[in-house]
Amino acid sequence: MYERAYSYILAAGLALAAATASAEVDLEAAEKLNTEVCAACHGAKGVSSVAEWPSHAGQHADYIRHQLELFRDENRYDPQNLMTSNAVGLSDQDIRNIAAWLAQQEPPKPAEGVDPALAEQGERIYYAGIPEEGVAACTACHGPNGEGIQGAQFPRVAAQQQTYLVNSLKAFKSRERKSDRNAMMRDIAGRMSAEQIEAVSAYMSTLGGEPQVAQKQ
Ligand code: HEC
Ligand code: HEC
Repeated sequence: MYERAYSYILAAGLALAAATASAEVDLEAAEKLNTEVCAACHGAKGVSSVAEWPSHAGQHADYIRHQLELFRDENRYDPQNLMTSNAVGLSDQDIRNIAAWLAQQEPPKPAEGVDPALAEQGERIYYAGIPEEGVAACTACHGPNGEGIQGAQFPRVAAQQQTYLVNSLKAFKSRERKSDRNAMMRDIAGRMSAEQIEAVSAYMSTLGGEPQVAQKQ
């Protein structure tokens, strides 16, 4: 009886030690990797200046880790093969390091100069979905301020590059990007028109400043 309880405690202790060890990250190594490899396309601090290439600063570590594993295993659509070749050589530890470092960087600033009428159309889709097409509200998974949900692999979309958002939604719609579990995003984007994709992407690029929901009250 006591013996069994003891072995349980021992097993729990070992599991905890293993989890702690695997959670250790080397942020200095991550910054070095970023400078040497990733910065050319994603920016020195994870904020991209190229419309087609995503920013990762402030993105959830679990989402970044998962996407890097997909690229590394050649399971994520990469139309110009720009990303896969940079991921194939990464170790699990590199991936943990860089994901933790990127998540800690200051997120990109909301886009300015976005067409207000387009953003307004996008705002309606973001918070209410498109009921007549069966499109769920984006806010349910990507959060009221585009912050996403850490732990659920629901990515942050606030202030993401607008062109990258459009391209991602089109890639889900055409079902070329298959990285979404249960085809969640393929289903949603598949029900949206090109114009609705443009509008909601414009709106998402303006998120990430003061909390929008609080502002409206
Ligand atoms: C030659 C340019 C280039 C380099 C270098 C590069 N990437 Fe990328 N990366 C891209 C492109 C382009 C995409 C978007 C692919 C697509 O269209 O979905 C991308 C996508 C990503 C994504 C997915 C983002 C998302 O929101 O889903 C992550 C994470 C990522 N890169 C991390 C890295 C890391 C970490 C490094 C360095 C080890 C790196 N990249 C190096 C071009 C690059
Ligand atoms: C049921 C949850 C859910 C809903 C609702 C949802 N999304 Fe997503 N979305 C996800 C998940 C999960 C991913 C990550 C998929 C992956 O791993 O590639 C994602 C990814 C995305 C991406 C790609 C982000 C990146 O960095 O590559 C965009 C853009 C996006 N969603 C836009 C939307 C829009 C616009 C709506 C509303 C019309 C919406 N989503 C509704 C779950 C959801």
